[in-house]
Amino acid sequence: MQYDFDKHVERRGTDCLKYDGLFQMLGRSDVMPLWVADMDFETPPFVVRSIEQRLKQRVLGYTLPPASFYKSIINWMERRHSVCLKAEDIHFVPGIVPAVHHAVCAFTEKGDKILIQPPVYHPFAHIIYINERTRVENPLQVVNGRFEMDFDDLEQKLPGCKLMILCNPHNPGGRVWPLDVLQRVAKLCHKHGVKVLSDEIHSDMALRGHCYTPFVNTCPEAREIALTMNAPSKVFNMPGVVVSYCYSLSPTIRERYFTFLDQADVALGNIFSYGCLQACYTEEGEEWLQQMLDYTQGNIKMVESFLGVHCPKIKPMHPEASFLIFLDNREMPFASAEEMREFYLGKAHLYLNEGQTFGKGGEKFMRLNVALPRAELASALQQLQQAYIGIGA
Ligand SMILES: Cc1ncc(COP(=O)(O)O)c(C=O)c1O
Repeated sequence: MQYDFDKHVERRGTDCLKYDGLFQMLGRSDVMPLWVADMDFETPPFVVRSIEQRLKQRVLGYTLPPASFYKSIINWMERRHSVCLKAEDIHFVPGIVPAVHHAVCAFTEKGDKILIQPPVYHPFAHIIYINERTRVENPLQVVNGRFEMDFDDLEQKLPGCKLMILCNPHNPGGRVWPLDVLQRVAKLCHKHGVKVLSDEIHSDMALRGHCYTPFVNTCPEAREIALTMNAPSKVFNMPGVVVSYCYSLSPTIRERYFTFLDQADVALGNIFSYGCLQACYTEEGEEWLQQMLDYTQGNIKMVESFLGVHCPKIKPMHPEASFLIFLDNREMPFASAEEMREFYLGKAHLYLNEGQTFGKGGEKFMRLNVALPRAELASALQQLQQAYIGIGA
């Protein structure tokens, strides 16, 4: 089946965060939302069908994850990523952000050190802060236009940490961490007794030419220290369904974390979640995913070519995965974050995620979401070009 990613889907007036939430925040409707990481493409029909199917059962009571839920994850992870799991290695979680929160509570005490690599998905820092843990930062470095890890700094900072939160592939930089990099992380963390919580929600969206490596597959050390989070929700554009899972090959990590989840009473998903995951983790799902990635790749290419010609001082960091582009504005004549905001929002009428939200190193960046029909993305680029000309950059 050929899916139509050019189709405009009207999301305004559906209480969606991306459009209606932005309107509530800004009080204006003339701004194109290119921020929060969900897609403007239609959620795949097999997801919708799965919900319709479930509705035919006339009781929407508490529902256990069926054996087929685990089987789908096991098959998907084995076929696509060569991760060998058993059902007992896997646990449902009601969203990765809550699951990271629970992991922080399960594995650390107040004041304990947790390492992150900014700029990175911002809830990590927030979760550390609200739980009164100590944030240790190993900032990523921009080298030849992409993020690299600073291992000298990491080696200095890991001793004394209890946990490292890894983002693989990386959001907002779109980096698919190579095997050797992940191996170094695993060996260092193992040496210093640091557990690794690996958030791999973007893993199924590696773009052409890039190969995602599950952290747990990198070396024997990684198997002993890793707790991995994953989900079909972002990939198949159904984050509102809330269906995520975690897995670990370490019996000690599983015992501690899974018990914690069960005691916190967050072990059950909503009744639609299990079926939605199973509908996605199929050949049909794989076909949709490939078409979505091909389309997204086309959008990324369009942004890169357009900016190169019309806005050459805005440099896109080439994403190796997912549908987010981190735009480097370091050559733009902005004296402050306010000036950069005024340019994108006030002049171009575009709302992107500000790079500073993701922490140190993100200050001069903006994160652009390109998962929208190409014609609409083209309009956004025109608006950007007009603003660019307007300030004489
Ligand atoms: C790295 C990363 N982790 C987690 C999430 C959100 O996951 P969930 O909706 O399951 O909480 C996102 C959403 O953008 C993300 O980019």
